[in-house]
Amino acid sequence: MLRRLHTEQPDSFAFTPANQAWAEAQLTKFPEGRQASGVIPLLWRAQEQEGWLSKPAIESIADMLGMAYIRVLEVATFYFMFQLKPVGSVAHIQICGTTSCMLCGSEDLIGICKEVIAPNAHEISADGKFSWEEVECLGACTNAPMAQIGKDYYEDLTAEKFRDLLKAFENGEVPTPGPQNGRFAAEPLGGLTSLQDKTGEAANGSVARAIALGDTVKRIQGDEVPILVKPKPAKAKPAKTPEPEAVSAGQKPVMLDSPRSGGGDNLKKIKGVGPKLEGELNAKGVWHFDQIAAWSDVEVAWADENLVKFKGRVSRDDWVGQAKILAAGGTTEFSEKA
Ligand code: FES
Repeated sequence: MLRRLHTEQPDSFAFTPANQAWAEAQLTKFPEGRQASGVIPLLWRAQEQEGWLSKPAIESIADMLGMAYIRVLEVATFYFMFQLKPVGSVAHIQICGTTSCMLCGSEDLIGICKEVIAPNAHEISADGKFSWEEVECLGACTNAPMAQIGKDYYEDLTAEKFRDLLKAFENGEVPTPGPQNGRFAAEPLGGLTSLQDKTGEAANGSVARAIALGDTVKRIQGDEVPILVKPKPAKAKPAKTPEPEAVSAGQKPVMLDSPRSGGGDNLKKIKGVGPKLEGELNAKGVWHFDQIAAWSDVEVAWADENLVKFKGRVSRDDWVGQAKILAAGGTTEFSEKA
């Protein structure tokens, strides 16, 4: 299946303040320089907030993590759990169409989606409330056929029951998830033949947990759930002093106070430089390809230590080699796409 960005994109993306705090707290889990490890949780939280992943959301997260946009796009397009198109405002319905569910009636459920929601998967219903897709096995085969609606599983479905569920969601209700045919969990349909003691619980563990969390189909603004990772205490900012000339490694190249007449070059054409890093480079006096092209080995060593968050990126991505080509008016494989 071809997965690509939606043709219509919003102008911008921003986490809500609470989600931003959550995202920053997540990044403290990883050692310095390994913040890219947070890409999936951050993409997921953006989707929880917006319902889907837009291009500005992907780029904003790339900037937060110091990653090239293409790297984050690769993750977002690889995993089917990420929605690349807008979804229904109430719920995105995921029908399992794999063997057990197919044999037990998932095609009927998909038929209802086509009839009630929209003829095609990933299309939004006329009232904007629902969208749907067929997904691979969701691991609830014993309770086939089933659908994931929001974060919860609705199992042991029939066509009639599924229609009722859609109606309930449309009316703003959240039906109890889990088996919809009276089964407690995944016991035999004919009833228990052993271990028949009643547990006394009203719902099985998964359903009880789902009810307690109440995440269901709602969007996450960030203040509904506790932040489980405490942010590192902010380091006291030292008083602003001129940048020391003596550095731990290499030699500082000549910097410019401002770009030459005609303006700075588009440094984002260099692989490894995103908009955020370009701003930082400009702030430090790097504006032109020919500046970078002229860096000697010791100056590259300095830049590796002092100009980039992820140490070693300047030499690893061969900024000097790229800049030499770009300064001469040529293009690189990356710059053509940038
Ligand atoms: S086949 Fe549908 S959940 Fe496994």
